[in-house]
Order: sequence, then C-alpha cells, then structure tokens
Amino acid sequence: MTLESSQQGVIAGSIPLFAGHPAPELLPAAGFRQAAERLMRGRAASRLFNYGDERGDPRLRDYLVERLNRCESLGIRRENLMILGGSTGGLTMLCDRLTVAGDDVLVDAPSYRDALHIFRDRQLRIHAVPIDEQGILPQELERTLQRLQRQRRRPKFYYVVPTFQNPSGITMPAERRRAVIALSQQYRFAIIEDDVYCDIRFDAAPPPSFYALSGGAEVLRLGSFSKTLAPGLRCGWLVARRERIAEFSGSGMLKMGGGANPFTAALVAEYCASGAWERHLGWLRGQYRQRRDIALTALRRFMPPGVSWTRPEGGYFIWLRLPAGLDAADLAARVQARDVYFAPGSGFFVSPDDGTRYLRLSFSFVPAADLRAGIEILAEGIAEMAAG
Ligand SMILES: Cc1ncc(COP(=O)(O)O)c(C=O)c1O
Repeated sequence: MTLESSQQGVIAGSIPLFAGHPAPELLPAAGFRQAAERLMRGRAASRLFNYGDERGDPRLRDYLVERLNRCESLGIRRENLMILGGSTGGLTMLCDRLTVAGDDVLVDAPSYRDALHIFRDRQLRIHAVPIDEQGILPQELERTLQRLQRQRRRPKFYYVVPTFQNPSGITMPAERRRAVIALSQQYRFAIIEDDVYCDIRFDAAPPPSFYALSGGAEVLRLGSFSKTLAPGLRCGWLVARRERIAEFSGSGMLKMGGGANPFTAALVAEYCASGAWERHLGWLRGQYRQRRDIALTALRRFMPPGVSWTRPEGGYFIWLRLPAGLDAADLAARVQARDVYFAPGSGFFVSPDDGTRYLRLSFSFVPAADLRAGIEILAEGIAEMAAG
C-alpha cells in the first residue's frame, strides 16, 4: 500500500495534507449507533438482512427526493433517483452502461484522479480540456468537439466535478454551466456531474446544478454521503431521466445483487429521517470553514513570492501553483523527510507533465495545528528550492 494509491495510507505521526477524506473526529459515530439501535429494535429488522429493491432503499429514496427538491429545486420524482454504492459505484456503472473500450470521453484538466483511473481501466480515450478559475473553458471545449467531429468521433460524456472541485476547489458559475449544456445539446454528449462536495459550502449556496439548469435532459447527477457523513458507508445516489434510471436499475448486477448495499441504505435512511444529517451538515460546514481559514491564513503568512493558490468557498481542497521552474515531485521528496505529504498535481492530469507545477492540499483531515505546521514546512521547502 503506497500513499499514492491508497485512500487510507496515512502514516502515524505524519502530516497527511493529501488525505481527501473526513477527519475521524468529524464522523457521526454516536448518531449512527443510535440509529442502528432504533433500526434493529424495529419491526422491520428482519428485512434489513435480505436482498433489497434494485433502485435502493425506498425510504432513503423518498427522503432524498424530498430534500433534493427542497434544497436544489431539481423537480424530481422517485422514478428519477436510485441508490448506489457511493459515487464511485455510480461512475463505474455509468461507464459500464454508456461506453465500450475505445470510446471518447471529456474531462477537465485537472480532474479527479480516481475518475481518470476508472476511465483508464475501461480503456476510454480521455480528452482533457483546460480550465480557468471558473472551470472548463467553453471555447476550448468546442475546439475539442470540432476536432473530434472532423474525425467522425462523438464523445459519450463530459465528466465534471462542478462544485468545490477535486483537486482545485473551484466552482463553475451558472453561466459556464449553461454554455456547456448548450454544447452538450449541439454535439450530443451526456454530462456526468459528480457533485459530492456541493453540500459543504461555507458561504452562499452554490450555483444551480447542471441537472437543474438543463431540466434533466441528458445530465446524470451523482451524489454521495461519503463527504458529509462517512466514506465507509459506501452509499450515494444517481439522479437522471426516469428512462435512464429504469434502464440502469434493470441491469443484471443490480437485479442479481438486490440493489446497492440495502443494509447500509436502511441505516442511512433511519439516521436522516430523524433530522440528524441536516444538523450534522450545519456543524460540519463550520468545522471545515474553520480549517479552510486556518489553511488560507497560513498560506498568506508563510508562502514565498511566486506561489499562488485558490480560495475555495466550500469542499476540502486548495490548489497551489509553484513558481516557474519548480517541480511538485521534487518538493514532495523534500518535505517527506519532514513527514509532510501532499498530492502532487501531475496525478490529476491526463498528461502528467501538465501538472508538474501544481499540488493539492486537503484541509479536511489534519488537525488545525498540523495544518499550520505542514504549510509552514511546505513553504520552507519551496523557498529552499527557489534559492537553488
Ligand atoms: C469528486 C469525487 N467524486 C467521488 C468521490 C468518491 O465518492 P464515493 O465515496 O461516494 O465513492 C470523491 C472522493 O474523494 C471525489 O472527490
């Protein structure tokens, strides 16, 4: 198990600024213990241990439909939503259902590293389109689409993390989203929006989702409880046109398997029904906002000239750019000697060379004191490298 390849590879005593998951003290263990006790004492307890509905736990689906209509104005019904084994389970299913090896797909440069991994596993041809601080550049996207059209190729989908992106922390404004939807309709490709961070907002509500802006058209919207409750639940959802949900939930995998994680989904439904998720989210936003502020203050205080970074309004990540000529891989080797680890930018690009000047810092996992100390050590490493 290496730091690069594992979600869990945290070395005791180190400062793991690479870790993109919740800190242990932010996990709702007590609330889940109570929900599990209520559930096991209830009359339906024996049903918990059986196969479930192909589309997932009905109570959880009803809860999510109500909440997504209330908070995100999606205008959906139960037929538009299915429960999945996390966003990862959803993306894997979508790739299996929508693509064959050799198909073209579009992503941002940079994009979520593990999604690239899933696309590579399936031997998809991945086309990366540059972003600025507002997300994908529509002119660049159109240029890529025209190039593919000249080759008589049509991408199957554009995969995007539109809100508080992993790795950059940036959010695509509504206008950009509309421009991308217009292109998706003109060039006929689906949009997979992986919005696992949208509920971790520190200030204003994020822009309307691709799904809301397009009226659902050909948008596949993935959500997850991993970032707002616990990754170990392996529980997420997909919102899509009802025909799509019918098609996907009729797959052999879900029919034979009796839906995604029925036991977990029932437990999450019990937890959410008591209002606990909403309360936890309110608290969590404050916790992550504090960590974001500590990280930004430390960056301002310690970073040498020539280093720039994003100022995320939610989520887990800050994206740093090193001065010209410095390589994040060299920095990683240097600070590892002082027990600081971060995610070098090259892993988030289809062409790794495009990411050598970048690095991702996560403020979700490490305690405040380590966050400050880790950033100070990084800054010292950069200053030493710049001095030659
Ligand atoms: C953009 C993005 N999508 C999906 C995931 C994983 O989601 P899940 O745990 O629901 O599979 C992550 C976790 O890091 C992520 O950053």
